[in-house]
Amino acid sequence: MADYRASGAPPDVAIGFAVDDPVTVATDALILTVPPGDAAWNGPLAAVDTALGGALKAALADAGFKGDTGKAQVVPTLGRIPAKRIVATGLPESGASAEAIRKAYGAAAAAAKRAGAREVAVAAVGGDDVTAAYRAAVEGALLAVYDFRKYRFSSSDDTGAGVTKLTFLTEASEAANAGVAQGFALAAGVYLARDLVFEPGEAIYPASMAQVAADMARENELDCVVYDEVQLAEMEAGALVAVGKGSEHPARLIHLTYTPSGESKGTVALVGKGITFDTGGLNLKPTGAIETMKTDMAGAAAVIGAMRAIAALDLPFTVYGIVAAAENTPSATAFRPGDVLRAMNGKTIEILSTDAEGRLVLADALVYAARKGADELIDLATLTGAKTIALGDESVAVFSNDDAFAQRIIAASKEAGELYWQLPLWDELKGQIKSEIADMKNTGGRPGGAITAALLIAEFTEGKPWVHLDIAGAAWTSKERPYTPKGAVGIGVRTLVNYLEAKAAE
Ligand code: BES
Ligand code: MN
Ligand code: ZN
Repeated sequence: MADYRASGAPPDVAIGFAVDDPVTVATDALILTVPPGDAAWNGPLAAVDTALGGALKAALADAGFKGDTGKAQVVPTLGRIPAKRIVATGLPESGASAEAIRKAYGAAAAAAKRAGAREVAVAAVGGDDVTAAYRAAVEGALLAVYDFRKYRFSSSDDTGAGVTKLTFLTEASEAANAGVAQGFALAAGVYLARDLVFEPGEAIYPASMAQVAADMARENELDCVVYDEVQLAEMEAGALVAVGKGSEHPARLIHLTYTPSGESKGTVALVGKGITFDTGGLNLKPTGAIETMKTDMAGAAAVIGAMRAIAALDLPFTVYGIVAAAENTPSATAFRPGDVLRAMNGKTIEILSTDAEGRLVLADALVYAARKGADELIDLATLTGAKTIALGDESVAVFSNDDAFAQRIIAASKEAGELYWQLPLWDELKGQIKSEIADMKNTGGRPGGAITAALLIAEFTEGKPWVHLDIAGAAWTSKERPYTPKGAVGIGVRTLVNYLEAKAAE
């Protein structure tokens, strides 16, 4: 049985294949897909219902289960077949999108986990493209059973360690195996991103985030270089260093590199905002705004997670994963409103608010990426509250100096089932960040706040094609979704990978 478990790293779920009959397989939970509405039952679904004397159909009808995608229903088998319970999950028999497959297997795996199942069996996954179908099923199931348990030692509703084994009841074809490996790689990237976002600010600060990145790089054969605050000052990264000045944990710049096995068709830089905690600095955030600010490194987490997934896939590009890490906190050594910072490209920024710090650290990271030879730049940042006002919590705002590039990212996001929407980079709003004493000031006031933040970052892209993704709000969910438990989402990881895969296929 194939075992895709990475050494010691999550997802701690062994995935394999076994030629076995759903009617006689012994397992904690047997996942069966059910077509919507009154469609006829056949295959394993019909066989299991017959073995149960029609009780499955009756139980689903009784529960009001109609086979809607993203809905799952647990049915106990009361010892009538060796599988302890059936998890019915809605999915059309043909023509299902990758997102529908992710939702179906996600909802089913989450229901199995809630029921206390550890070993889960799945009848063969159908689909025109076998690799794509298995990739989506594994992605959905693994993402749904994710659980950040590290700090939970005792709790009454704890159902145990969760799902540890997922077995497809079919032979391991090459195409299915490839899909499982891809789905696992994507989930491993999202798991790492979610872990980093869940970790409190006490545990994840610039140097410890750099250590996580370096360890991941070593395990996955990526290169990793970390610059400390002294080296950053020598490199004239005045904006990044300033944001980290108030903290006992000074700033770091993390540079991961993936090098393709064959010839490189170009260099893509993924750049993440890594504010490990955003107090607002001397412009301290009030109660109500500060509680979730351990998540202000979600852009960095997405970059580090995506690099983990990229390391496992065979892409023909050099990929940089660059993280600007700092803790934004007030103290006697903190940067102040009124200070004028000088970024790596010599441009100066007057500080109006120390709480508009993300754009400052990105400024230096983008100049660094461009100067290291990146052909295109993609940054991800929990940048502005204004983004959530404009587009809501779940979505990602896309800004770019190259509309075709933005559209390619948006196409990749649709494939991933993430909600991206382009907002304009209007020059007409640039007056809002004009300073009397420096090249620009770091806030443009409330109107169009997500746009003026993007306009500032655009000053540091060194003429390269660039997409900026404002992920504020989208990095954390207070509501469970079919394959996204409450909390850290891991937003961006799968879209970035999809983008690179689509670019490779061009
Ligand atoms: N990290 C915040 C943005 C944020 C807000 C992320 C809510 C996630 C949820 C960012 O550093 C910030 O404080 N932005 C300010 C900018 C303002 C001072 C110009 C904001 O949006 O209020
Ligand atoms: Mn801030
Ligand atoms: Zn911030």
